[in-house]
Amino acid sequence: MARVKEYFICTECGSMSGTWYGRCTSCGSWNSLEKHVDVKTNIKSSVGKNVYTGKNQPLSISNIKILNEERKTTGIKELDRVLGGGIVSGSVILIGGHPGIGKSTLLLQICRDISSENKILYISGEENGSQIKIRSRRLGVDGENVFVVSETDINVIEGIIEDISPDLIIIDSIQTMNISTISSFSGSVTQVRESTNILTSIAKKNNICIIIVGHVNKDGGIAGPKVLEHLVDVVLHFEGDKSSLYRIIRGIKNRYGSTDEVGIFQMTNGGLIEVENPSKILLEGIPQNVSGSSVSCIMEGVRPILVEIQALVTKTSFGTPRRDTSGFDYNRMSLLIAIIEKRGGFFLGNLDVYLNIVGGIKINDPVCDLAVVLSIISSLKNFCIPSTTMVIGEVGLSGEIRTVNNIRNRIKEAINIGFDRCIIPNISDFDKSEFDIKIHPVDNIKSAIYILNSI
Ligand SMILES: Nc1ncnc2c1ncn2[C@@H]1O[C@H](COP(=O)(O)OP(=O)(O)OP(=O)(O)O)[C@@H](O)[C@H]1O
Ligand SMILES: [Mg+2]
Ligand SMILES: [Zn+2]
Repeated sequence: MARVKEYFICTECGSMSGTWYGRCTSCGSWNSLEKHVDVKTNIKSSVGKNVYTGKNQPLSISNIKILNEERKTTGIKELDRVLGGGIVSGSVILIGGHPGIGKSTLLLQICRDISSENKILYISGEENGSQIKIRSRRLGVDGENVFVVSETDINVIEGIIEDISPDLIIIDSIQTMNISTISSFSGSVTQVRESTNILTSIAKKNNICIIIVGHVNKDGGIAGPKVLEHLVDVVLHFEGDKSSLYRIIRGIKNRYGSTDEVGIFQMTNGGLIEVENPSKILLEGIPQNVSGSSVSCIMEGVRPILVEIQALVTKTSFGTPRRDTSGFDYNRMSLLIAIIEKRGGFFLGNLDVYLNIVGGIKINDPVCDLAVVLSIISSLKNFCIPSTTMVIGEVGLSGEIRTVNNIRNRIKEAINIGFDRCIIPNISDFDKSEFDIKIHPVDNIKSAIYILNSI
């Protein structure tokens, strides 16, 4: 007996509920529940009905043959790195990112780089052929092997795929796709989930790679519930903002590789270019012999990147001093200022403090605490921190410098860039002679300032 089941799904977290609420009971988002109708056979009537015919027998794992383990390069080294060496055939990759970040650009560049050996089908629900052609011309994409179609009906797309039998399919974007037999609008959870389901089964059945573009919601997660991320093999996030020099591609999930790697790009007129040495570009134009600037080292995945941290401390012209930061957490800065006053003995009560991380980089790693502290004190006391000194260390509430992870990799990066000095936390099992650079381990902010005054 068929029955119609009506329920609600939260578009933010994917939880289901039998009744509508203004606010999701699981994740607390407002007005995120969306109505769904399923026609289902009564479960009771299907219990105990064995339809197994003996086909599709379970095999012992040692007898299973690997069908195709080959990886296809995307032609973009930084992207291959994130994917763990290239696209595994038959896999489905979901790539999410804010509007205008460069998703379509990246995908067209893949078309450019691998179309000589692969037949590519580019399906766009957002732009028509001519708009895609304009972008392709700018990026230098040309080729008999790249087929473009502007289509949103998944069942039509199924037919096109059968017709063309491509090696790689690009879907831009999943939120514009729809299945005509489902009544909800494009971009709704049901449409997005069912469209992805169909595409995934096409990929697995025909051993075709599919790259799907997904829009992100205001928090940066892929729009539509987590269930979408479960359906695909790889989830990549394209990050960065307009003010930043960089675009970063980060692996969130990868069934065929680690998620530690990131790919770093720069957006230019001619498209995205790979950045092999981000530290070098970020430190370009670092001021010499100017107070208030120091260099620290963050990790993007497994890659260390040197960043410049600038502080400006001036006399306030208002009743209450102004504190402002860009690229660094405001509350963390306030805390560090309190530590500077209480543990360092410097007075900042009637002074404005501005903090800036150069290059639009956002830091959410306590490893830069000490560099922030030293930049502020350097601006306050008007002394310079040499621009070839790297400063790392987390600052605790009593002014002590605490250890951070990956110290060795960070020091190696400083050496690669040609730095001559590092100020690091004082850790017990550390052999300074391992590195060809001057290393000053420090216990607290006072000893760090002492070191700076003595060099
Ligand atoms: N003529 C141009 N010259 C230089 N850069 C351009 C030009 N046109 C676009 N861009 C860059 O490309 C970016 C848009 O890239 P793209 O269309 O690939 O983004 P997207 O992630 O696909 O966006 P959407 O989510 O809207 O589809 C712009 O933000 C801009 O930085
Ligand atoms: Mg686009
Ligand atoms: Zn929710």
